[in-house]
Amino acid sequence: MEYRLVPMTEGHIPQIAALEAACFSRPWSESLLRDLLGSRHSHMLVAEGADGTVLGYAGLTAVAGEGYIDNIAVAESCRRQGIARAMLEEFIRRGREGGLAFLTLEVRASNAPAIALYEKLGFELAGRRRRYYDDPPEDALLMTLEFAGKE
Ligand SMILES: CC(C)(COP(=O)(O)OP(=O)(O)OC[C@H]1O[C@@H](n2cnc3c(N)ncnc32)[C@H](O)[C@@H]1OP(=O)(O)O)[C@@H](O)C(=O)NCCC(=O)NCCS
Repeated sequence: MEYRLVPMTEGHIPQIAALEAACFSRPWSESLLRDLLGSRHSHMLVAEGADGTVLGYAGLTAVAGEGYIDNIAVAESCRRQGIARAMLEEFIRRGREGGLAFLTLEVRASNAPAIALYEKLGFELAGRRRRYYDDPPEDALLMTLEFAGKE
């Protein structure tokens, strides 16, 4: 599948909100996405098809030398083609080059595809937040990729 990674713009917001609604029980709204777009700490990346369709997106917040992966999703029909991996690899590259100490994220304990993705990219289990999620209630796993001392 042909796509390119581009910075998120205002024009992507309705499609990203639709993807959020398709993927998550508590989806981000268009206004929240707009706030993130305006934040200087936030890096929002879109995988865009040849016709401008949003195939996937991911968000990274970098504050005080620490990186937090806010969210990542790929349209169901476009999964297992390396799009999420490409977006995360871009954040890993930026994190390393930008001197972040680590990247961290939370994931539903039952979300096997996402956990497999993060493990493949070198994230390691760092902890568990009990009943962190609602709808349905579930623990979050904390996963972290440390940069310090690693090439
Ligand atoms: C998790 C998600 C983002 C993965 O996106 P994707 O583009 O399909 O992932 P990739 O194709 O880059 O996968 C890279 C690797 O991750 C692992 N992986 C991804 N999906 C997997 C699955 N369903 N089962 C097992 N492993 C999986 C594999 O190791 C895969 O490599 P491979 O295809 O060579 O075996 C996607 O399934 C999604 O959008 N899910 C719904 C939203 C979500 O749960 N987001 C995470 C919130 S924390």
